[in-house]
Amino acid sequence: MTDLADSPAVRRLDDWDLERLEALADEYETPLYVMDLDRVKENYARFAAAFPDAHVMYAAKAHTGRAVLEAVLEAGGTIECAAWGELQRSIDAGADPDELQYTAVNPPDRDLDYAADLAADHPGLTITIGATDTLERLAERGYDGRIAIRINPGIGTGHHEKVATGADAKFGIPYERVPEVADRVREEFELVGLHAHAGSGVLTDDLADHCRAIERVGEMARRVGDDELEFVDVGGGYGVPYREDEPPLDLAKTSEMVRNAVGDLEAQLKLEPGRYVVADAGLILTEVNTIKEAPDTTVVGVDASLSTLIRPAMFGSYHPMLNVTAPERDPIEATVGGPVCTSADVFAHDRPIAEPERGDVLAIGNAGSYGYELANQFHSQPKPAEVALEDGEARVARRRETLADVTRLEQE
Ligand SMILES: Cc1ncc(COP(=O)(O)O)c(C=O)c1O
Repeated sequence: MTDLADSPAVRRLDDWDLERLEALADEYETPLYVMDLDRVKENYARFAAAFPDAHVMYAAKAHTGRAVLEAVLEAGGTIECAAWGELQRSIDAGADPDELQYTAVNPPDRDLDYAADLAADHPGLTITIGATDTLERLAERGYDGRIAIRINPGIGTGHHEKVATGADAKFGIPYERVPEVADRVREEFELVGLHAHAGSGVLTDDLADHCRAIERVGEMARRVGDDELEFVDVGGGYGVPYREDEPPLDLAKTSEMVRNAVGDLEAQLKLEPGRYVVADAGLILTEVNTIKEAPDTTVVGVDASLSTLIRPAMFGSYHPMLNVTAPERDPIEATVGGPVCTSADVFAHDRPIAEPERGDVLAIGNAGSYGYELANQFHSQPKPAEVALEDGEARVARRRETLADVTRLEQE
């Protein structure tokens, strides 16, 4: 059991051991992902402790690296997967297939083939469906096992419209159709739960909206018969403070509000946090290669780019940054960008940062979730290495790609 006594609710960039980070950049080169597995375990344990009677699964999509999955399993977590590859990687990391939950969103045939095959030997697998087509396609594959229905609660929440899934027609069964779909599931499958995921990046001030969606899930569970359901799964979405002055999510309040919103239920409460478990356990180290005075700002060029971390370009996300080499220097307002030929390849505009010099190492914080997972090879850039920290030791969790990795699939 992870000891939470000394585990702060948030880890800011300047809480890291900067000398150690500089040494890691030196040894493993940049850009470099660093994942602190002890922090992953603490985050999982803190979240689970706030929901003592609930079942807390980790949403693998936030970071599906083997070392992270192993850390979550070691902390006692089970895993929610959104694709066949995530299922297989979870099993490879040691997950019991009978405890996995697969959330199928417009699932390709190969995903359903894989899930149906897996369930033939592991009837504990749960498949969450968001369309009746998925039921038909599962039945065609001889599947008659455990089904959870993803509800579209009609309310979306979160830090960006692209992650507010709760009201997006793409996700889940339209609310009023759920009882009819529940009857249909019961005819051919085992209905074990209801599910909803309203959105992502929810902090304490967003809880009221988030809980309105959860309230509807609780109501629907009572309508379809919560005494016959094993669980009611209210998804993930629990946020972390990206900005230096944002307070962390108040977990005690979150737990109380979620419980109140879902209401009295015979079924067990389930949650699927992704970001909360891994975000502040990870950062990127990147080296400064260019300093340019422009009329309105100082441009600081670094070797990480939107192919390393796409969130700022994709969602306009703010990530904290720190000059690891010289945090004591006077700050300047800098625009920090990478080597990719688009104006979107900028991590920060006019950001105060201890005056960088060429060769300095900068850290980009809260990169543990949706960081490496969304990394790509644009501009023929090999993906960075990832170093895992655990019990005071550092090891390569993923080696740096080479150009041969980038071209590996090309045919003559
Ligand atoms: C079904 C489902 N569960 C859990 C999550 C995890 O969300 P978060 O990382 O915000 O906790 C997501 C995110 O997209 C999701 O779609």
